[in-house]
Amino acid sequence: CDHSELVEMTQEQFVKEFPRIQEDAYKGQEGIPLIVGGCYGMAGATCLNILGAKASGISYLHVACDEKIYPILATKEITPVFHPFTLDTVGSVLKEVLPKVKCIAFGSGATYLDSKKVILELLLQQSTCPVVLDAEGIRCLQNNLYILKLVRTQVILTPHLKEFADLIGMSLESLKTNKLEIAKEFAKEYHVTLVLKGPHTLVVSSQGEVYINQTGNAGLAKAGSGDFLTGLITGFIAQKRDVFMAVILAVWLHGHAADLALKNHHQRMIQIEDLKQEIEQFYFDQC
Ligand code: APR
Ligand code: MG
Repeated sequence: CDHSELVEMTQEQFVKEFPRIQEDAYKGQEGIPLIVGGCYGMAGATCLNILGAKASGISYLHVACDEKIYPILATKEITPVFHPFTLDTVGSVLKEVLPKVKCIAFGSGATYLDSKKVILELLLQQSTCPVVLDAEGIRCLQNNLYILKLVRTQVILTPHLKEFADLIGMSLESLKTNKLEIAKEFAKEYHVTLVLKGPHTLVVSSQGEVYINQTGNAGLAKAGSGDFLTGLITGFIAQKRDVFMAVILAVWLHGHAADLALKNHHQRMIQIEDLKQEIEQFYFDQC
């Protein structure tokens, strides 16, 4: 690989890049994210997206979800503005909220969402702000990759290795032998920012910039930590102009929080709530 394009992140760099607010700030001024996703049986994924977005420091959050899970989410999370929809109303509900937001996440926990394909097409065709696709959002692109070439807005994909292998129709074994080059080629061809997750998550821009994450530990290998990361990424993008830098901040912080958690937790026992607490303490101490 050409290391001239390798981007680094340190704690000092993070503190420098961390989005700050002015003393006279009003709510949402820094940029409001929108989270779309979840389904009956997987409302927890949306809760974790919300937790991650809040951990990025945002002050206002929109959440659009199937009306079947709205009562669950609204009981659990009281600060977001919710936009419940059905298969019939999803288009009009989303069109109304799109102009208000600076970054959109779609796909975490959306496995059985009946409107998932409608949502993906609408977001890719109508959003003017960056769109982060996770889990089911990525799966919906399978055999449909060409639609990424028709999109005018910035798209960020956050697959783990198996999701990426399935997306490009390659075996996991072949992907593992050359993942950096394959990731770079994909990001360039489809003009996306690719977050290829796992130990040492890769972040690759369409311009060929590469970040290889050095934070994090196997305590993150746990259902839900990817959903939390998606929220964190979406929150940072909403607050920063530079999408690539915002993604790196989120990936670095996600891993750093897990490393900090090792001081008081056995690796097997790190929970997503612990990541939130470590992030809060880290901001308090350093930012
Ligand atoms: N070391 C460091 N970081 C790790 C490690 C490790 N050994 N293992 C995993 N991680 C990090 C990844 O980099 C990523 O940020 O944990 C996160 C895991 O994200 P996902 O693989 O997306 O897992 P998650 O979404 O939380 O749970 C699995 O995702 O894609 C769906 O269908 C899938 O429902 C399943 C769910
Ligand atoms: Mg996932």
